[in-house]
Amino acid sequence: MSNKNIDWDNLGFNAHETKSMFRANYTLESNWQVEGLIPYGDVSLSPASTVLNYGQGIFEGTKAYQTSRERVVCFRLEDNANRFLSSSDRMCIPPLPKGFFEKAVQDVVKDNLEFLPSKEQGSLYIRPLAFGEGPMLGVKASDNFTFLIYVTPVGSYFKSGLKSLNTIITDKYHRTATKSVGFAKAIGNYAGTLLPFKEITDQGYDEIIFLNSSDENIIDEARSANIFVLKDNILKTPSLQGSILPGITRDSVIKVASHFFNLEVHEGDVTIEELMNGDEVFFTGTAAVIVPAGSINYKNKTMEFDAKYNDSMTKQIREKIIDIQHENIEDPFGWVIPLR
Ligand SMILES: Cc1ncc(COP(=O)(O)O)c(C=O)c1O
Repeated sequence: MSNKNIDWDNLGFNAHETKSMFRANYTLESNWQVEGLIPYGDVSLSPASTVLNYGQGIFEGTKAYQTSRERVVCFRLEDNANRFLSSSDRMCIPPLPKGFFEKAVQDVVKDNLEFLPSKEQGSLYIRPLAFGEGPMLGVKASDNFTFLIYVTPVGSYFKSGLKSLNTIITDKYHRTATKSVGFAKAIGNYAGTLLPFKEITDQGYDEIIFLNSSDENIIDEARSANIFVLKDNILKTPSLQGSILPGITRDSVIKVASHFFNLEVHEGDVTIEELMNGDEVFFTGTAAVIVPAGSINYKNKTMEFDAKYNDSMTKQIREKIIDIQHENIEDPFGWVIPLR
């Protein structure tokens, strides 16, 4: 596959075919065995595989960047590896050996460098997956699993400026139950958000905010992003009580906000009222790093946020994280890992 057909200056968030992907296979007899780099392409599966029938699958999302120091780096890869481990544990997928995930990511990035955008154009999105492959008619864990990583070039959200999102808190749907699998990056957590999202976009909103299923006065997160609210000098985000994905951008924001900006960061219950009365509200995730909320609607009442993005703390935190990722500034946290 060549990189010639890609419109490098207008990359969105789409899957482009690249050169290769990484594959490893698990059987009860041989544990995880590396198959290695294979050409990018379709995967064949038993119609009775546990992933197709029962959703026994997990994934990750991270990025490789070209930096100001002319290097290719990954960001907090070990944290993705640890989250993958926690997700696999919850979904009865055998754990990868230590260091396996990080090495495989580096191998597939190195083999697909021709698909890595310049830092102005974007980054290389990395998508590791693991799923139950073996046929199993009853609801049981598979005996065979596949670990796969593919990569694709994605655009930078900051080239054409950031659009503040018009958002809505839903009291019609939950993303997940509090003692269910919300903390895991399980594939089944996402299909259930498609209809709620379709409904809110049909009404003209850009993003949906889910409430906690055990306490509908407090918020959980969006479809694939964590939430923060700033009021005066206090930055608040929902605590990791089980139904929220422990976002790596979330954790980066917490550390950057207190290290660079002296904000007081609170992890705890965030009520609807607190969210609606914040000075600034923003969403965090690997894909867009940070995106500000322009408004929040709840039960037909809309709060507009007056803070201009250019004067906001949201912008300052966002740019600090991007500066670390692109090695424009020193990384005080040891988050940036050059390709080896
Ligand atoms: C449900 C959910 N919440 C939050 C996030 C943000 O996590 P991260 O910052 O690690 O990308 C994601 C995206 O991965 C997600 O799927």
